Amino acid sequence: MSNERIPVSPFRYLLCPSNALLVTCCDAEGRSNIITITWLIPVSIRPPLVGMSIGPTRHSYRLIQATGEFVINTAPYQISQQALFCGLRSGRDVDKFALTGLTPGEALRVHPPIIEECTAHLECRVLRDIEAGDHRFVIGEVLAAYARPGSLADGLYDLSRIHPLLHLGRNRFTSTLSESVEPPLPT
Ligand SMILES: Cc1cc2nc3c(=O)[nH]c(=O)nc-3n(C[C@H](O)[C@H](O)[C@H](O)COP(=O)(O)O)c2cc1C
Repeated sequence: MSNERIPVSPFRYLLCPSNALLVTCCDAEGRSNIITITWLIPVSIRPPLVGMSIGPTRHSYRLIQATGEFVINTAPYQISQQALFCGLRSGRDVDKFALTGLTPGEALRVHPPIIEECTAHLECRVLRDIEAGDHRFVIGEVLAAYARPGSLADGLYDLSRIHPLLHLGRNRFTSTLSESVEPPLPT
């Protein structure tokens, strides 16, 4: 059987589903914003670094560039509607906390707020900002990381209790099975 050949530009959908994350940031006066981000990966363990691909035209990029701080909030499936809203509207025009009803909470080490409805929070400080095609690749150092009580089992998400929001492409979302498997190691 032959493979389905697709145009190159939607290559990114072949890498889905991936975590749909809500990244929070704020301006110098403390006015905060939320951007939906799926292009975000760990890039180093020691030091703990993440890399996020963000469009330079995003209002959030300007805020992150100005303050050097952001928080990654992992979203549960239950807030897919709010996540889509934060990915389709700009903080230049609207107050996303007010319009989504999401609750800001105080972070431990940085100025942008955490989102109380989210499962886990990674507080980050910008280390590098690299040109990457039509996006910027922002590398952040993770200063603090914590999860909602009861969401982890032995340090991993407890999928009987947590349903992470996963992006399937375009405006479609999905989540995990309520189980996880550990396949046998290769011999
Ligand atoms: C599911 C989803 C995932 C997205 N992922 C990214 C991403 O990884 N990087 C990015 O720059 N924009 C991404 N976007 C687009 C931004 O979230 C969108 O442009 C947003 O309105 C920018 O808001 P802001 O202007 O308030 O920063 C995504 C949008 C959606 C709906």
